[in-house]
Amino acid sequence: MNGALVVVDDVAESFAEILIEHLPVKAGPVRSLAFSGGSTAKECYLRLASLAGDLTAWSAVDAWWGDERCVPLDDPDSNFRLVNDSLFSKVAPLRSVHPMRSDVPHAAEAYEELLRAAAPIDVIHLGLGPDGHTASLFPESSALTAPDDRLVVSNVDPLGNNPHERLTFTYSGIARCRTCIVTVAGESKREALHRVLDGDPSAPAAKIDGENVIWLVDALAMGPRMGR
Ligand code: 6PG
Repeated sequence: MNGALVVVDDVAESFAEILIEHLPVKAGPVRSLAFSGGSTAKECYLRLASLAGDLTAWSAVDAWWGDERCVPLDDPDSNFRLVNDSLFSKVAPLRSVHPMRSDVPHAAEAYEELLRAAAPIDVIHLGLGPDGHTASLFPESSALTAPDDRLVVSNVDPLGNNPHERLTFTYSGIARCRTCIVTVAGESKREALHRVLDGDPSAPAAKIDGENVIWLVDALAMGPRMGR
């Protein structure tokens, strides 16, 4: 596992506090954030909205996604809809919002081009699936061996545990971000987290790397390894 392991009482609260530190101060530099999907992420965004809803800093934030399901943006399974409903609808308008569009030709390459035209993302938020995936980098999936120069690819879960064709950052795409925060909460993630901590190569999240990787995990996910 790469990066800093931080055990916290409340993952959503700690995530929100770190994000607020990264939000631009008044008339500060633009900040770019790449959002995740999943129920842990939703909790994080609801908490962020409750703690930072009235900040003017949102007008200097550019929003991206680290992965998306290839469904309409208003689909209940869309990560864009998850973030829009849990965060954007509760805070001031952002500077720009860049959904991952699966309804355009060469969707992965198109998003990658947009990314390359922008500065590296300041903060990417990732989750951890019970099978050890992160973003839509699923075990035994083709995205795990994408060429190093690719930032975004399309992918599916060959083991059938995660629905929909996807668009996802590659490991290179993740490593290009300045800070990466991985949030892991609850006993259901304990086995996957321990595989990551042990560097199990069959757990895709174990290979997350970059300039500044922070694993925010709670005691339930850590389990008996607490304090080791
Ligand atoms: C997705 C997410 C995915 C998620 C993990 C954890 O599109 O499904 O990006 O990588 O972060 O599966 O999700 P939970 O927090 O719901 O367990």
